[in-house]
Amino acid sequence: MKLQEYKVWDATTRGFHWLNVLCVLGLAGVGTVILNDAALGVSNEGKVILKLTHVWIGYVFVLNLLWRFVWGFIGGPYARWRAILPFGRGYGAQLAGEFAAIREGRSQNYVGHTPLGRIAVTVLLGALLLQGATGLILAGTDLYMPPFGKTIATNIAASGVDPSQVRPNAPETVDPESYKAMRAMRAPVVETHEIMYFVLLGLIALHVAAVVLTELKHGGNIISAMFSGRKSFANPPADRPE
Ligand code: HEM
Repeated sequence: MKLQEYKVWDATTRGFHWLNVLCVLGLAGVGTVILNDAALGVSNEGKVILKLTHVWIGYVFVLNLLWRFVWGFIGGPYARWRAILPFGRGYGAQLAGEFAAIREGRSQNYVGHTPLGRIAVTVLLGALLLQGATGLILAGTDLYMPPFGKTIATNIAASGVDPSQVRPNAPETVDPESYKAMRAMRAPVVETHEIMYFVLLGLIALHVAAVVLTELKHGGNIISAMFSGRKSFANPPADRPE
């Protein structure tokens, strides 16, 4: 059986993927401790250190994610938005083709994402974006860190206090009414960030299960392709390599 090799994931896409895995693991790990800080008996100073660590990993995560969004416009053919987003010319027919193959128990190989995989990747990227955006708001409203921290501190500083002096665990530096209003505004954001943590854990479990099961059932070394950038198939792929 002769295998044909196809180039798929460029170095930037692979770099994004593995840096994103490291960041999400770090953020979910530290986030789990923050979520359970009371039960774990973490002190107020300890909480600030945990949140600072979380936010610094968060900045790497957000920059990496933004770079991936830009790469969707300028990257290799399989990294582009038109190869990812689940719409565009011919998408409906491709999706119907994948469903038909599943129903008939036929193995179909794809160089890039399968039509169903495009939905999964879009949902994952959207969930990561929402988690990054809510995280940046929390960093501003909790630790007064960029990009929103300066504006928040200016709005809640007690009269006569320089906004640069506003910091966590220092109630004397803030105006109580403005602080209360700011906390009320951020409450739904914390809620969303917490819900998205659980949603992401579920999506990540599904994503890992899907790639492992696909490789076991259909081959095509899709897992090692995220390291090597190449896939190999005996039969011609359903999507045409560009
Ligand atoms: C995959 C990405 C992320 C995951 C899984 C995650 C997870 C979590 C979890 C579980 C918590 C605890 C929530 C709670 O105490 O109710 C948390 C809190 C927090 N996160 Fe994230 N996070 C992520 C990304 C980010 C980013 C990108 C930033 C900012 C750059 C960020 C900033 C914060 C802050 C400031 C808090 C403290 C909120 C508070 O309890 O006052 N997070 N995160």
